[in-house]
Amino acid sequence: MSFDTIFGASAESLQFLDAEPGDGQRWSTWPSASPTERGPLPHPAWLETSAGAFDTELGIVKTGKEADVFLLERAVPGRDGCALAAKRYRGAGRTDFHRSHQYEEGRRFRNSRDARAVAGKSAHGRSVAAVHWAANEFAALCTAWDAGIPVPYPVQLSGTELLMEFIGAGRTAAPRLAQAGLDKDGYADAFRQVEALLVAFARSGYAHGDLSAYNLLWHDGRVVVIDLPQIVDLAANPNGLDFLHRDVVNVCAWFARKGVDADAEELFAGLVAQLW
Ligand SMILES: Nc1ncnc2c1ncn2[C@@H]1O[C@H](COP(=O)(O)OP(=O)(O)O)[C@@H](O)[C@H]1O
Ligand SMILES: [Mg+2]
Repeated sequence: MSFDTIFGASAESLQFLDAEPGDGQRWSTWPSASPTERGPLPHPAWLETSAGAFDTELGIVKTGKEADVFLLERAVPGRDGCALAAKRYRGAGRTDFHRSHQYEEGRRFRNSRDARAVAGKSAHGRSVAAVHWAANEFAALCTAWDAGIPVPYPVQLSGTELLMEFIGAGRTAAPRLAQAGLDKDGYADAFRQVEALLVAFARSGYAHGDLSAYNLLWHDGRVVVIDLPQIVDLAANPNGLDFLHRDVVNVCAWFARKGVDADAEELFAGLVAQLW
């Protein structure tokens, strides 16, 4: 019996057993994550869960006001791995979270000290807020994923970092709908998909809360919705329906400019009817 058969590995892959993460790399954070910090079961087949995997930083996808999105590859050295988007909320350095306190109604912080720190906007408050928004977005993605809403698969949460499925081809991120440059039929098709995802959100009792052509990706003919930290619980938040209405008006106005027959009030009424 050969060495290969015994260990089920080729000599080529064994040479990586001694490898250590280099520049721009770390050990995969998967093995140390608790079940609650991992995405919904079943974990997708494409997800690399090996303890021997490295996370390699491949570059920045987009810098934002409160968070930056990076492209990571999680792979066992010498093997194909998976591409992940790492959304990292900034703890300090910038002031003023634009996410309004109105989103917070009907929601709880871990304790009153954290709630006061966030309200006070101290450096500690900003880092608490960053952890809080990452956790909110992770939870929202898990809820949406379980409801069958087309979101990136939420892979992992660790502190201010949220890891999710990278939506794109190879290392190129999918365009936002605003930049997808579709033709008239493409926009009409995209609008039908957006209506369907609004219905699915409403049936689960949520509004996205910041829906726009910038938070919708267009990938392989499918709309994927992103940027969910401010998801609004329609039952608990007294302003819930206002957020839902604003989302619907935003997207309908945008699609109307693209020549799609998108009636915001009719769609809003249809969504409200899903709630009760
Ligand atoms: N899972 C993902 N796959 C590919 N690109 C993504 C992904 N998540 C975010 N992006 C890119 O990063 C940008 C910013 O992400 P987003 O969640 O909208 O944060 P922000 O709060 O900065 O708007 C998006 O517009 C999109 O271009
Ligand atoms: Mg966004």
